[in-house]
Amino acid sequence: MWKILLLGKIGQLGYELQRTLSPLGEITALDYPEIDFSNSIQLAPQILSLKPDVLVNAVAYTNVDKAEQETDLANAINGTACEVLAKTATKMNIPFIHFSTDYVFDGDKGAPYIETDMVNPLNAYGKSKLIGEQAIQEFGNNYLIIRTSWLYSLRRENFVLKVLQLARKQSKMRMVNDQTGSPTSARILAEITATALGMVKQAGIKWLESRQGIYHLAGDGAASRYEFAQAILEFDPKREEQIVTEIQPASSTEFPLPARRPVNSALNCDKFEQAFSLRMPPWKEVLRLELEP
Ligand SMILES: NC(=O)c1ccc[n+]([C@@H]2O[C@H](COP(=O)([O-])OP(=O)(O)OC[C@H]3O[C@@H](n4cnc5c(N)ncnc54)[C@H](OP(=O)(O)O)[C@@H]3O)[C@@H](O)[C@H]2O)c1
Repeated sequence: MWKILLLGKIGQLGYELQRTLSPLGEITALDYPEIDFSNSIQLAPQILSLKPDVLVNAVAYTNVDKAEQETDLANAINGTACEVLAKTATKMNIPFIHFSTDYVFDGDKGAPYIETDMVNPLNAYGKSKLIGEQAIQEFGNNYLIIRTSWLYSLRRENFVLKVLQLARKQSKMRMVNDQTGSPTSARILAEITATALGMVKQAGIKWLESRQGIYHLAGDGAASRYEFAQAILEFDPKREEQIVTEIQPASSTEFPLPARRPVNSALNCDKFEQAFSLRMPPWKEVLRLELEP
């Protein structure tokens, strides 16, 4: 029986991973304060004492705007702690699965990003995630870094829940149409991650070694925030509760935020499909199924 150590069980993705990873083995799932990524000295001995056969990290500092102020904390959680995880997994010779972000890109490419495209994060959060990626590439072995984008679930705080709430409070909504990304369901991301890990379990660590590296995995296609919001309102399972009658496109300059965002950070996921024969379904179809009552 595989012993799986899942870190970040309360997060959007971690919560879904608890469910999808469970058929693969016995899960130990932890979150803050049982583990504290801001104090990484404790991390290695904690992981070593649990003797896992695989390590999955869904912990991250994800508050993009607050990271501009709390940069040291973001770097500690998204950078330093991930270096410790990579070194520990390498020492134990176990698979290590980690998640990163489309915000490592500046968004100026004008087409979906592939894994080898130049990184150039615009904000402190993106920079902190890049530090983590680079440390895992340097010190990791048998790792997968899965970059995803515009993650949502029906829990915690995210764009989908925010739009559903706003639609019940305001008759007019304005949504930015100059930011494009690949909306991604945490549930499907967790399903695909577990399926890929099932292949690793069956084929062995050498098979993973030949595939280790960075992969993009996000909802197929791309949308602006405005288009994403329109689809959310269309698939709202309780449309009768909406008071919104109009949704207008707006410029991001109307909503100044502390952190700059990439204009177009959609991700091309072909590499993952070639390596694992798995692909994300179109983002809009997944959203419809997620919101279906
Ligand atoms: N959300 C997005 O739109 C998005 C987009 C692209 C990529 N990603 C990446 O996808 C992954 C999953 O994101 P998510 O949206 O599921 O994140 P999330 O919901 O914010 O969950 C992050 C988890 O990390 C935990 N955590 C935070 N600080 C910690 C600390 N000091 N020690 C231990 N645990 C701590 C959180 O616990 P608390 O609840 O106690 O804080 C939470 O369980 C991350 O790697 C993220 O960078 C996310």
